[in-house]
Amino acid sequence: MIVPLLDLSAQHAPIRKDLFAAIERVIDNNSYILGEEVKTFEENVAAYCQSRCGIGVSSGTDALLISLMALGIGADDEVITTPLSFFATAGSITRLGAKPIFVDIDPVTLNLDPVKIKLAITSKTRAIIPVHLYGQCADMDPILAIAADHELAVVEDAAQAIGAEHRDGRRAGSMGSMGCLSFFPSKNLGALGDGGMVVTNDEAHADRVRLLRTQGGRPKYYHKVVGGNFRLDTLQASILNVKLPYLDRWTSMRQQNASRYERLFEESGLSEKIGLRLPTAVYRDSNVAHYHIYNQFIIRVPNRDALRTYLKEHGIGSEIYYPVPLHLQECYQSLGYRQGDLPEAEKACQENLGLPIYPELTKEQQETVIKVIKDFYNR
Ligand SMILES: Cc1ncc(COP(=O)(O)O)c(C=O)c1O
Repeated sequence: MIVPLLDLSAQHAPIRKDLFAAIERVIDNNSYILGEEVKTFEENVAAYCQSRCGIGVSSGTDALLISLMALGIGADDEVITTPLSFFATAGSITRLGAKPIFVDIDPVTLNLDPVKIKLAITSKTRAIIPVHLYGQCADMDPILAIAADHELAVVEDAAQAIGAEHRDGRRAGSMGSMGCLSFFPSKNLGALGDGGMVVTNDEAHADRVRLLRTQGGRPKYYHKVVGGNFRLDTLQASILNVKLPYLDRWTSMRQQNASRYERLFEESGLSEKIGLRLPTAVYRDSNVAHYHIYNQFIIRVPNRDALRTYLKEHGIGSEIYYPVPLHLQECYQSLGYRQGDLPEAEKACQENLGLPIYPELTKEQQETVIKVIKDFYNR
């Protein structure tokens, strides 16, 4: 049985007609840049994320970049973030001439460890970027308290966590100065191409992001600041408007799949046998519905790379999120980090493996995944 890491055909089949109708609507309106589709989507996503404003942008990467631009982050500034994330989290800092300062993760949640943030603050620190990794909120209360104490901005990287709820029900992206979303096709809410959004409760930040999104011009051709073309594409917004009403259902299907994996892994005995670890859903006990939205389902295993090869040979997709921690990336050699500096993140990069968790995944497919993993460790 083939078990792909992701199956977008299964997601699109039941809504195919609506997707084509949305594309047709855009063509018939001849409105391809911003316009009503984008505005509607911005309003609905902002509300979904418990935020006053939403500004559609070209990608999650650009959401991060434009947020930092809006804050005026630049040369000589330092921004604290996690070493366990997609590259864009750190790349957006460096592209503005600022310096990423990496702080190790909590080994249980795999999110930024707030205790270690304090020790990394210097007179140059301007902001913190917590990442709500894999679909679970970072521990925001201590992070926000540290930021308030030191007058730092908090830009939440919620690219993998749309709708994820903190222990008190606050949603990813709504807690800091700005939140950054990605609509990359593999995200819980995915476009048919690239897309992103900045959400914020601060009208001034929203205004600045809107200005920067269209070359810093206001009115058109009169440039107050140097911005860029960061617009969310209207066709993508029209697709996303069709998909957004399904998001809660897709998320709960992912959660059901996660619970099924938990049960199947428990029955497998692999935790005792090889020390396999499952994702820890830390906010589940707080009874919030979206305690984890499982953009990824990450297990931690010994002999990870060989397992991945074995899974592939048996038709099962998996992915390593991420093989190299950001502080040890080649492009960051000049920052002077060494192997062993951030041991928890480094260990996670050796052990983490993402399994298929997409909403339409079947029970039989999940049972196959467990069986093949069991076979591998029983060889
Ligand atoms: C944590 C994180 N940050 C940022 C991004 C960048 O988003 P995009 O791919 O839309 O540019 C991603 C997407 O993969 C991500 O997972």
